[in-house]
Amino acid sequence: MTFFFDPPLKMIELIIKIISSFSLSRRTGNDTLLAKWVDYVEEIYVKFLFELLSKDLETYHHSLRVGNMANIFADQLNFSNEQKQKLIIGCCLHDCGKILISNEVLNKEGSLTPKEWEVMKCHPIMGMRLLLAEGDIDEEIIDIVKFHHERLDGLGYPFGMKGEEIPIHARICTIIDAYDSMLSNRAYRKGISPLKAREELLKHCTTQFDEFYVREFLSIPEHLLETREIGCELKDYYSINTLQTRG
Ligand SMILES: [Fe+2]
Repeated sequence: MTFFFDPPLKMIELIIKIISSFSLSRRTGNDTLLAKWVDYVEEIYVKFLFELLSKDLETYHHSLRVGNMANIFADQLNFSNEQKQKLIIGCCLHDCGKILISNEVLNKEGSLTPKEWEVMKCHPIMGMRLLLAEGDIDEEIIDIVKFHHERLDGLGYPFGMKGEEIPIHARICTIIDAYDSMLSNRAYRKGISPLKAREELLKHCTTQFDEFYVREFLSIPEHLLETREIGCELKDYYSINTLQTRG
């Protein structure tokens, strides 16, 4: 496997840069209150990533890989800077609801029981609530978290939305999320090859995934989507002591 990130801290630096420029683009003049609000919003995004890191290393790495691929995919789709930033942040945070899932369920080796599966399926709603509780988070970013497990045929969760009812950014996140998940080793199964994962995306076009975006995603050269376990630690940027831990 070749490494996309060199050095490993690059992704975090990219995220922080994007978050900063995203916030700065909304800043007008020298309004102190507004500046404080901007700092607060920046801190929320990084805080959630840090909490994921503290909670579950695999979910944290997965989130950063999905964010990284969103960065590449947004360029492929000629997204504006603002749309690109929202997509990356939403993709980095898509699984933030897992912060509230018990370790027993989140890290269980072997299949989940029906009851545990119901708990796991709540993570998009839990993520949405976490972001809403923080205040003024962009709606399109929340939509990615809320709808990233919906399917085109309406058989996804938690809302069973269909086709174009699902926001575009969420449809895009679903594809990247599935691709990275298929490549990843799990306690109960080995990851599959990029070629096989590409075939699976195509196979489930129109039922699970949006065909247009799958074909766009697959037109990205495979080597640009190569991933690795990212060794960077958010604590290099944000001290654990400054962050509140959730019960
Ligand atoms: Fe998820």
